[in-house]
Amino acid sequence: MISLRPQPHAAVKSNKHHSLPLSPASRLSHFSPPHLSRFSPPRTNLRLVIRAIDAAQPFDYEAHLSQRFNKSTKLKIAIVGFGNFGQFLARTMVKQGHTVLAHSRSDYSEKAAELDVSFFQCADDLCEEHPDVILLCTSIISTESVLRSLPLQRLKRNTLFVDVLSVKEFPKSLFVQILPQDFDILCTHPMFGPESGKESWKDLSFVYDKVRIGKDESRALRCERFLDIFKNEGCRMVGMSCAEHDRHAAESQFITHTMGRVLEKLSLDSTPINTKGYETLLNLVENTASDSFDLYYGLFMYNKNAMEQLERLDLAFESLKTELFGHLHDVLRKQLFGKAEEGLERPVERPLLPELPQNGRALISRAENLNKEN
Ligand SMILES: NC(=O)c1ccc[n+]([C@@H]2O[C@H](COP(=O)([O-])OP(=O)(O)OC[C@H]3O[C@@H](n4cnc5c(N)ncnc54)[C@H](OP(=O)(O)O)[C@@H]3O)[C@@H](O)[C@H]2O)c1
Repeated sequence: MISLRPQPHAAVKSNKHHSLPLSPASRLSHFSPPHLSRFSPPRTNLRLVIRAIDAAQPFDYEAHLSQRFNKSTKLKIAIVGFGNFGQFLARTMVKQGHTVLAHSRSDYSEKAAELDVSFFQCADDLCEEHPDVILLCTSIISTESVLRSLPLQRLKRNTLFVDVLSVKEFPKSLFVQILPQDFDILCTHPMFGPESGKESWKDLSFVYDKVRIGKDESRALRCERFLDIFKNEGCRMVGMSCAEHDRHAAESQFITHTMGRVLEKLSLDSTPINTKGYETLLNLVENTASDSFDLYYGLFMYNKNAMEQLERLDLAFESLKTELFGHLHDVLRKQLFGKAEEGLERPVERPLLPELPQNGRALISRAENLNKEN
């Protein structure tokens, strides 16, 4: 409590750090008009001095409440794998007031300090901080070795494990195999990256699968708070099983990355007469080229649907070429043989390649195709 007590002037001098200048109201009371003087306190040379500083009760109370509320909604998140994507996510988590720790194979101490993240070179030290969440942001292909190397025994018994890998069935089965039963598991995939999400995450998709979340209310809340990070940024939240994610991602993401990488090999240049379509292709190259080859390789190796999509792409390209050359062939025949062929019965046209197999149907090998045609 602040008690403002009249003090002799001498005391003020010895206590100058806590002396307050007189407010206009108190100055008035010192210089009150003569007709009020009988109601005024006796005129001693007094000043007001703070004796105790536990006063601002209503303000303090609110501050405490809001601190307590913040504490209850904020998480301590340990990012394992502090590369391109880990740093990208950390920026937003710090902005939202979460405490972010990081650990990686390489030393990112300086980068972490810039982002207000505490960097731990040793995984033991990181785990002894007892984070609420361990967020795996390692490359797909290194995930298993990284996960197996973590000193899980140093973590709180019911830590929440989250991954952001671009494939989902693989980390899910790793987590279920390796993590103790007490740990919660949330598999996620933000469908955007440092390029596509650099301005904002609004309306960008965020896929998640609550693989194993304890029944305890506090554990359910912790999971929701983690999801809130993305919800609060305006992401489109999509709850979906890991298997379903991988089927869709092979068709969309793997094809996108493959086309981006094929186009990159063509070293396309901007021209003075770019069409909108061409601009889209240039953007696609820019979006995919900044991702590591490890990431692309992981999309191929660790999604069982990717191989089929690669085959389909190959067949589609062959079929297109055949169609083009078929037309060219017709034109050339007309030019070469012209009238000589008039009146002759035209051979029945048949497709040179069979229809492309649908997703999920076994691929017919090229050798089989050739056999069928002969
Ligand atoms: N980039 C995106 O747009 C995007 C979007 C959604 C999800 N993701 C997912 O996020 C994760 C990280 O992606 P990224 O873009 O940062 O690139 P990445 O090349 O897939 O992964 C780089 C991270 O993996 C770590 N790493 C690589 N090899 C390692 C090894 N042998 N041992 C230990 N750590 C190793 C790196 O650690 P050091 O740097 O310390 O070497 C770095 O933290 C991936 O699983 C990816 O699928 C990425």
